[in-house]
Amino acid sequence: MITEDSLIYLFLDARRNYMVNVGQGTFHTDKGTMDLKQLVGKPWGTAVETNLGVKYFALKPTLHDLCMRVSRQTQIIYPKDGAQILVKSGIGPDSRIIECGGGSAAMTTLMAHFIGPKGRIFVYERDEKFMKNAAKNLTRYGLIDRVEFKNREITPEAEFDETEIDFCMLDSGSPWDLIPAAHKALKGGHRLATICPNAEQMNKFAVTLEEMNYVCVECMELIVREWLARKTKGTRPVQHMASHTGFLVFGTKTV
Ligand SMILES: C[S@@+](CC[C@H](N)C(=O)[O-])C[C@H]1O[C@@H](n2cnc3c(N)ncnc32)[C@H](O)[C@@H]1O
Repeated sequence: MITEDSLIYLFLDARRNYMVNVGQGTFHTDKGTMDLKQLVGKPWGTAVETNLGVKYFALKPTLHDLCMRVSRQTQIIYPKDGAQILVKSGIGPDSRIIECGGGSAAMTTLMAHFIGPKGRIFVYERDEKFMKNAAKNLTRYGLIDRVEFKNREITPEAEFDETEIDFCMLDSGSPWDLIPAAHKALKGGHRLATICPNAEQMNKFAVTLEEMNYVCVECMELIVREWLARKTKGTRPVQHMASHTGFLVFGTKTV
């Protein structure tokens, strides 16, 4: 059921869709105005009509929606990459994670969902403005209690505050420089990962991991091509796609 506290994905079509709080009441669109409070007590999927008679549907946001709708002040990790990171990270309920480079908290949102209320993500972010925006996004999504922010730059000489960490995600410039700090914090047999835009960076990160006796070192790029499935106009790939988001590298610590 939709409540006054619900965050809803208000959907008309591929161009007109919004992430809104029911509690905000009135919502204006180019197709008219609606009162979101009429949705309270109704099932997910209910249509809400604007004063111009256009019906929007109140949908339950998916993790994909949440990730794509963070208020963005930085580049983000896209859901296709974030999903792969989740399944290869080894994280689950109660995991303790270090994330260096909080950015806009798109990746934090995905991980916070999976670790549950007793898990913890220690997010290091050097830019206070980005950190505050990331915290705002997580508060809106009801996930802030699972996250501890640290407004710090991790340099090659620095260390993370935590030890016995289950997974370490490095999404910052020159991530290979931070491998020694991540190594100290990480439990044996557990994984660390990075995402980087260039193949040379991917190579440098992977080679550094191998030199430090990491195993299961994997490098990859994920390409998702969406298709249009239409009754009359034919079936074909969509015209535009995100052609390159980044390269992922994973490795597992040995002791
Ligand atoms: C690409 S953004 C991260 C995006 C984030 N993963 C997301 O999905 O929203 C990189 C962030 O790392 C931060 N950063 C870069 N180097 C850092 C370092 N050495 N220590 C802490 N933060 C760093 C930047 O300020 C920036 O916000």
